[in-house]
Amino acid sequence: MTTNRTFTMLKPDAVKNGHIGAILDKISAAGFRIVAMKKTQMTVADAAHFYAVHNERPFFGELVDFMTSGPIVAAILEKDNAVEDFRALIGATNPADAAEGTIRKMFATSMGENAVHGSDSDKNAAIEGAFHFSGREMF
Ligand code: RTP
Ligand code: MG
Repeated sequence: MTTNRTFTMLKPDAVKNGHIGAILDKISAAGFRIVAMKKTQMTVADAAHFYAVHNERPFFGELVDFMTSGPIVAAILEKDNAVEDFRALIGATNPADAAEGTIRKMFATSMGENAVHGSDSDKNAAIEGAFHFSGREMF
């Protein structure tokens, strides 16, 4: 399994607020290469499956509602140490705790509407990328 890829989604708030270009600029400037990318919208079943690890948590319903509320931009990104470096680039889950200069500090509005997703492990990066993209959409 590769260890140099991660998966991201620019969440519905980032798309709705017109931040696609600015966020992709930050991702490129940080040295990530785009392997695959598309604008799409998740169904309730998609979001429930994608975030199944959280299905017992009190915020699960809100999370699914939000993630299906509008289009997202999904992408597979490549860089050495991609998973860890991308989590550093996006910052803490709650933008109030995110470091200056991180994507969530700059573009997120709340814990729920936090602009961007980043995979938390190489294993999940591969699973999440394969959920959104077929092999012939990766370059
Ligand atoms: P993500 O998976 O979207 O990259 O976010 P994350 O790893 O930083 O955070 P995670 O624990 O995986 O949670 C997934 C998303 O659920 C929402 N959340 N709300 N109200 C709450 O306590 C709470 N905790 C998590 C956030 O939108 C988070 O991004
Ligand atoms: Mg997570």
